Parts: sequence; structure tokens; C-alpha cells
Amino acid sequence: MMNENELLRVLKEHGQEHIYKAYEKLDAAGKEKLAAQVDKIDWSIVSMAGHGEVSMERGKLEPLSALEVSEIEAGRAKYEETGLKAIQAGKVGAVLLAGGQGTRLGSDGPKGKYNIGLTKDIYIFERLIRNLLDVTDKAGCFVPLYIMTSDKNDAETIAFFEEKDYFGYPKDFVKFFKQEMAPSVDFNGKLYMESADSLSLSPNGNGGWFYSMSVTGVLKDVKARGIEWLNIFAVDNVLQRIADPVFVGATLDSGCVSGAKVVRKADPNEKIGVLCLEDGKPSIVEYYEMTDEIINSREENGQLSYNFGVILNYLFRVDKLEEILNEKMPVHVVEKKIPYINESGALVKPDAPNGYKFELLVLDMIHLLDNCLSYEVVRDYEFAPIKNKTGVDSVESAQALLQKNGVEL
Ligand code: UTP
Repeated sequence: MMNENELLRVLKEHGQEHIYKAYEKLDAAGKEKLAAQVDKIDWSIVSMAGHGEVSMERGKLEPLSALEVSEIEAGRAKYEETGLKAIQAGKVGAVLLAGGQGTRLGSDGPKGKYNIGLTKDIYIFERLIRNLLDVTDKAGCFVPLYIMTSDKNDAETIAFFEEKDYFGYPKDFVKFFKQEMAPSVDFNGKLYMESADSLSLSPNGNGGWFYSMSVTGVLKDVKARGIEWLNIFAVDNVLQRIADPVFVGATLDSGCVSGAKVVRKADPNEKIGVLCLEDGKPSIVEYYEMTDEIINSREENGQLSYNFGVILNYLFRVDKLEEILNEKMPVHVVEKKIPYINESGALVKPDAPNGYKFELLVLDMIHLLDNCLSYEVVRDYEFAPIKNKTGVDSVESAQALLQKNGVEL
């Protein structure tokens, strides 16, 4: 642990003397807590504030063809058998990314606690477990489920699963782990504080999940169980298939070390990250990083060359993840509304963005790998993300899609 002189020196060096002023007013326990938080700061990240997004210079982009729905249907029986065998052999685990804060939905607790039922209670977590149970019923065995939370929602998430008896999933097959936290800064790069003895810390994005599995020791469980593939999925897509045997089988069959579920773009300018090749390696490129020419380019058959967007449902081979465990991932600097304490010590919850958070994104992992199976799913059957209260990608739109798929709400 840093001593006081070191603390002062480090804070001065990075123009954060206001934190030392706050530190001086604390008792011994408070001092220890704050100093420990400062000690953990990666200054190379904090110093990126105000310098825009990660360097967006992209390499040479080329289209990556997908395994399309018609091909999947033609091979369904074979893929499903391969996938079920892998699941039955205990080689597949699932990772629920639930460390986010769901600020757009505007509910304070874990997003998975949100009730999307109309005539009865149906929580997002419950819906996801039901989706997983569809597979495990068919496979005749359970799939280990790892749930990533953060300091902000861990206790509440675990308590909710306990209260609801894990929605019928066996508790022995569920493990929680916490992701890392990162500091937030104002538009001038000054660290915010959220209480007298704490920096404003928030989850560091969904890209650190494998690192967090490793440092929390959960990875040991993955290894001990002999799991070879992990299916990563977001908390907010209530329609997605989890540990989908057809997806698993197709990925195994392809020989790729990763797989990504993708949907056909609704139109060339849809705001969705597109899976393609960058300098010969798989990569996910956002619509705003592409030129108009690339966006509108078409293949001979008239189909858009960059036609498939990711839905945050990936398969990764565990041994390959271990190889890239310590590789640097790009840090995304994002403008957000950050609660902070003002000079009189009162907590302020701003209505508009007031600074930056620093995030790692799971999609950047794909580019660290040699190959990725682009696996097409039908949007209306597999993609109903809940980001907002109303409108696009909302509770309402997800409810409508669930009903369309025969789910009683
Ligand atoms: P989003 O990018 O939609 O972020 O997360 P969010 O925090 O849930 O919502 P907003 O932006 O504040 O409204 C996509 C997925 O990644 C997870 C989320 O829980 C969701 O499943 N995630 C996000 C994490 O697990 N950790 C994070 O730090 C961020």
C-alpha cells in the first residue's frame, strides 16, 4: 500500500490534488480505503480523457461471409447432434454478462430484476434461465452458468436468485463473479468522488469478463469441470438461445476458435457493429467507423458486403482465451452521467453527461483471435434487447417479440 508521501506525489503528478484534500479530512479507515482505490488506478487509461475514442484507425477491411440461415437449416440435424454431444460431455459453459448499470432503462437495481410480465411476473433473469432450460431439458444435463456482476449490483443479484430459488436452475451449476471497477472523470480529466471516502467507480465495461473470471478464481472451476467452450451473452436480450446446440455444433464443425451470432442488417446504415475481416483477422467494426463506400458495397448477388451485425452472443474456446488473457484491449472513452459529490459534500445525480467512463468491450476480443464463425440468426426469433423503457430496443418491443414467439407474458 502507498504511504502518504507517495499518494500525494502520484496525485500531484496526475493533476488530482483535490483527491488528496479529500483524503486529508478522513479517519484512518477512510484514508486506507481511498488510498487503496487510488493505488489501483491505471493512469494510462485516465489520461485518455478528452482525447476522443480509442484510435479509430482501422486496418484493411474485407467482408466475412456468414453461415446463413438456409445453410444452418440444411445442416441443423448434424450441427445439433454435435452440439448436444459437446454439452453432454460437459464441454460447454455459459457466461451471463450482468455487470452493467442499465442506465438507459433507468432502473437502479440489476437489469435482470426488471419485470417484463404483463399478466404475471416474469423477470429478465427468469426469462433467460427458461431459455437455457429449453436446452438443458433437451440435452438431459445442466450447463454451468457463470454470472458476472459488479460491486454495484452483486449482493442484490445474488439475493434475487436466492429469493427466486434460481428460477428452477440447480444452484450447484451457478457461480457469481465480480468484474473490475474503473474510475470516472469530469470533462477536464479530474477524478470524481461519489462519497467522502470513495472515488466514483463504475464497472469497466463487458470486455474484462475473462480477466475477471481469472482473477476471481472462477476460471479454476471452468478448468476443473473440463469446460472447453464458453457462451457469452448479454443480460438484456430476452429472446436469445443460450448454449444453443446448433450454434455450438456449427462452430465446432467450422474449426473456428470463436463464433458470433449475427443478424442481417435491416438497412445499410443500421447502427450495429458489423463482423468482418480487418487485416485478415475477424473484427467488429461500428457503422461510424466505415466509409459510405464500404457501407454500401455489394456482392455480385446484390447482398450487402458488410451485411451482418453482432448481437452480443459469442462462443469462445477457453484455451484461446487463456492465450490472449494478458493482451491489451482498446479502452473506450464514453461520455456518461456520473453521480458525484459536490464541494459541500452533497450527492449530485446529473441529468446530462458530465464526464467520461472508461470501458473495455467484449467485441474487441474477437480481433485478438485468428478466426470467428459468423452465424446468422433470424432477428425476430433471437434478438429482443431491452435497452430503453420505450421505443427502439425497449421493454415494449421485447414484449411484442416474445409474444410473437409464443411466450405468454
Ligand atoms: P450495455 O452496453 O447495454 O450497457 O451492456 P448497460 O450498462 O447494461 O446499459 P446502459 O448503457 O447503462 O444503459 C451490454 C451487456 O454488457 C453487460 C450488461 O450487463 C449487458 O449484459 N455489461 C456492460 C457488463 O457486464 N459490464 C459492464 O461494465 C457493462
